Amino acid sequence: MIRVRFLKADGSLAVEAEGRPGQRLLELAQAHGLPLEGTCEGAMACSTCHVIVSAADFARLPPAGPHEEDMLDFTPHVAPTSRLSCQVELTEALGSIEVRLPAAHANMQGR
Ligand code: FES
Repeated sequence: MIRVRFLKADGSLAVEAEGRPGQRLLELAQAHGLPLEGTCEGAMACSTCHVIVSAADFARLPPAGPHEEDMLDFTPHVAPTSRLSCQVELTEALGSIEVRLPAAHANMQGR
């Protein structure tokens, strides 16, 4: 199992979840009711699955491909460690990961 800490935009804990190898980060977030729309279901055409990975964990992930990088260029609230969660696969080697939801999602919740 891969332990995933999802933080709210303000950095407080939203949910701590356990993912399985091969699962996409987006799937796990949605299974726990987090507000990541994932409108295009992983086709890299929407960027509504954007998350900001902790710096330490970002460095341990396989790098984003060119198409993901292009999408992130047009994503609001993007940060140096931003990723599209539909492109992040959970693996045993990863062990654990911490990601934060971008501010745009918090706004959609009316906060
Ligand atoms: Fe659309 Fe990730 S779900 S880009």
